[in-house]
Amino acid sequence: MVTIGDLTFEIFITDEELLQETASLGMQLSADYAGKELVFIAVLNGAFMFASDLLKNVSIPAEISFVKVSSYTGLTNSEEIKELIGLNTNIQGKHVVLIEDIVDTGNTIDKLLVSLEKENPLSVKVCTLLYKPEAFKGVNKPDYVGFSIPNAFVVGYGLDYNDLGRNLNAIYQLKKEE
Ligand code: IMP
Repeated sequence: MVTIGDLTFEIFITDEELLQETASLGMQLSADYAGKELVFIAVLNGAFMFASDLLKNVSIPAEISFVKVSSYTGLTNSEEIKELIGLNTNIQGKHVVLIEDIVDTGNTIDKLLVSLEKENPLSVKVCTLLYKPEAFKGVNKPDYVGFSIPNAFVVGYGLDYNDLGRNLNAIYQLKKEE
């Protein structure tokens, strides 16, 4: 168990399970994109640890780039605006795999995909470590999923609670009330 601020979390996905799944995803991507011009784009901060383990298992040549998402509220409406920042790789005419830590409502990947499509890539697919199908309300479902999980808050392995917990080497979920 780990305590972060006011909350207690219990183990949910172990480091062995994470390494096994990242290896399997890496091999699958290597097979699917063999012979193609490929760019991986990992979304910081959450995907840093997943991207690292995943990419160690990719055996084909590929470019690797990192982006961030800045979120802000528009002046004239209450909609949250998400902007892709830091894409300094030319993806025109290339295949892109977006690496995410978690797809929850799907809002973030929907916005990122619209931004990336403007750069005229050949294709864009999403590879996420975690996916919460019950929370998903988006348009684009993730193409590669490590683990589909229930709609509960998780931390560790890149994911944070109030900016803490990203360094944990496993995934923890909020402890259930006894
Ligand atoms: P979405 O736009 O609702 O799909 O949310 C995606 C983002 O919300 C992720 O990249 C995370 O930063 C954050 N998020 C969603 N669920 C969790 C969670 O259970 N733990 C930590 N962060 C989460």
